[in-house]
Amino acid sequence: MGQGSKRSQVSPFIVMDIMREANELEAKGKSIIHMEVGQPSTSAPRQALRTAGKVLLQERLGYTEALGDIDLRKKISQFYIARYNLEIDFNRIIVTTGASGGLQLAFLSLFDAGDRVALTEPCYPGYRNMLSSMNIEIEKLSIGPEYDFRLNVEVLEKMSNRIDGLIMSSPGNPTGSMTKAEQLELIVSWCQENQVKLISDEIYHGIEYEEPAITAVNLDNDSIVINSFSKYFSMTGWRLGWMVVPENMIRTIERLAQNLFISPPTISQLAALGSLDSLEELNQTVARYKKNRELMISRLPQCGLSKFAPIDGAFYAYVDVSNLADNSEIFCREMLREIGVAITPGIDFDRENGMRYVRFCFSGLTEEINEAMNRLSNWLN
Ligand SMILES: Cc1ncc(COP(=O)(O)O)c(C=O)c1O
Repeated sequence: MGQGSKRSQVSPFIVMDIMREANELEAKGKSIIHMEVGQPSTSAPRQALRTAGKVLLQERLGYTEALGDIDLRKKISQFYIARYNLEIDFNRIIVTTGASGGLQLAFLSLFDAGDRVALTEPCYPGYRNMLSSMNIEIEKLSIGPEYDFRLNVEVLEKMSNRIDGLIMSSPGNPTGSMTKAEQLELIVSWCQENQVKLISDEIYHGIEYEEPAITAVNLDNDSIVINSFSKYFSMTGWRLGWMVVPENMIRTIERLAQNLFISPPTISQLAALGSLDSLEELNQTVARYKKNRELMISRLPQCGLSKFAPIDGAFYAYVDVSNLADNSEIFCREMLREIGVAITPGIDFDRENGMRYVRFCFSGLTEEINEAMNRLSNWLN
């Protein structure tokens, strides 16, 4: 049958290869500190687990409506009032199978094959790979240290190609860097003036350290917002997210969602109702991330690694290792084998400059992060 279609030939996630190797070494008895995969180290909030346990015994758990359980959509709408002081009609909220499901629905509903969509480099690799599997052209916007790894309107103005869409994420993955509020306003206006469809991936909202993140719907009702229960809500494996969409896109997305997914996972939707009542518990987890972030910011330079992207949010440190190695993938593999600390090479996120960078995920226990920094410091000094 050959290799399958041309559009399905997307790049693998190197991080998954690193994780496999880390697990193999762990199974052989080596002590491994996992900082490679970008997910919370805690389980879903207690209230979510209690709700899930209860419904598992009592409910049939059939499909829900394709747009999601109506109570959950209403509760997410209330959450927008609590978090952003913003009223959003619950009809504009669509529950999805993770942010990943939301991104697929957004791309399919907004773009045709041959359209051109801009994304930053570095960025979450799923964007690039999903778009190329849909035969959508990609415009890369390089935002390295010269821009403090933050998207700004100057980068858009410099672009020579016309684009149909722009994807941005603030805080971003792999950097954790956030676009400044005034820049976000300029970017939104630029998209409106140039008839560019904006997709704002807000999956790391709620995990911010300096300034609260601003949602794009606050500035533009025509943008599509993607969010998820995977990160702040600590429900990665439950595969649940949501979108906020313009009113005139609801029916289009509903038709796609009915055919692609039928409905998001029912048990996860019911559990998510409990998560939305658990903000205090979730904020305690964010307080731990904050401690871990401080630890990384003070310890990395002591290891000779003083160049990294501003960690404004999320739980990542994107670190320049070019003073120590010319190939970050080899650097990561050596680090794993020699000191048992698993991290991700930058090439997953940036095909051009990623060889210079690595990503640490610091969502683990503070003691583990401290131990990882001890091992790194002994290894490099
Ligand atoms: C920026 C970004 N968007 C989307 C996703 C996919 O998330 P989900 O688990 O909600 O599908 C991730 C996962 O790491 C991410 O980092």
